[in-house]
Amino acid sequence: MKLLEGKVALITGGSRGIGKALAMRFAAEGAAIAFSDLRRDEIMEQTEKELLDLGVQAKGYGSNAASFDDSIQLAEAVVADFGRIDVLINNAGITRDNLLMRMSEQDWDMVLTVNLKSVFNLTKAVQSVMLKQRSGSIINMSSVVGVNGNKGQSNYAASKAGMIGFTKSIAAELGSRNVRCNAIAPGFIETEMTHKLPDDVRTQWISTIPLRRSGKPEDVADVAVFLASDLSAYVTGQVISVCGGMSM
Ligand code: NAI
Repeated sequence: MKLLEGKVALITGGSRGIGKALAMRFAAEGAAIAFSDLRRDEIMEQTEKELLDLGVQAKGYGSNAASFDDSIQLAEAVVADFGRIDVLINNAGITRDNLLMRMSEQDWDMVLTVNLKSVFNLTKAVQSVMLKQRSGSIINMSSVVGVNGNKGQSNYAASKAGMIGFTKSIAAELGSRNVRCNAIAPGFIETEMTHKLPDDVRTQWISTIPLRRSGKPEDVADVAVFLASDLSAYVTGQVISVCGGMSM
């Protein structure tokens, strides 16, 4: 029996990067995959095709996680198409890095809305489904930057720290109904988000990592499988770092 057989997972920002790696790994473990991204484009269609090729039910939805109305409609559409939602991964996220001195109000609002309000939106949207099922696992993609802070990322760090407070609160609220909520704090993971960094910054980051390499989206996916599966049935309200030891 595969670890996620019979489960339906909803992953935001799933067309590429870490979200896509999670979707592929979950599908390999037998889960049906609903995933969202800002728009239904050729990248989403390609991811959907790769998932269907693994022999599971899969569908991509164009939906803005920062929009409350979109999030409610997304959860309704997933229940209509898949019948249930066992796992929610709040993965959609962006950066607008700058020192506070140069950070615009717009960049602050944008990062907080996409990274943090989206977690409220989607969690609220799936809550009643999971409560009725009397089971569910919510996984919030935070960051080591949310735990430790980082120069030039005060908006991003605040959004990711906010996710941790939200995670612990929801774990306390929903635990009695067997709905779990945990956060993953990835370190330096190779995706389009980190490819934007200059080479010297990347080299500097990697030199500070005890395991002396950047992480792969698959490293994050392995921990997500654990948190989504019944292997973690007694784990809630926790933050698990996947960072090669960068944060201890
Ligand atoms: P990415 O930029 O490669 O992928 C993010 C995906 O989210 C994209 O497909 C994007 O279109 C989508 N997205 C953005 N805004 C959205 C919205 N409003 N609604 C729906 N989808 C939206 O990023 P990556 O690296 O895969 O990051 C995934 C998550 O992991 C993010 O929350 C990020 O903050 C977090 N993370 C990433 C780290 C890294 O080193 N790459 C480290 C720590 C955390």
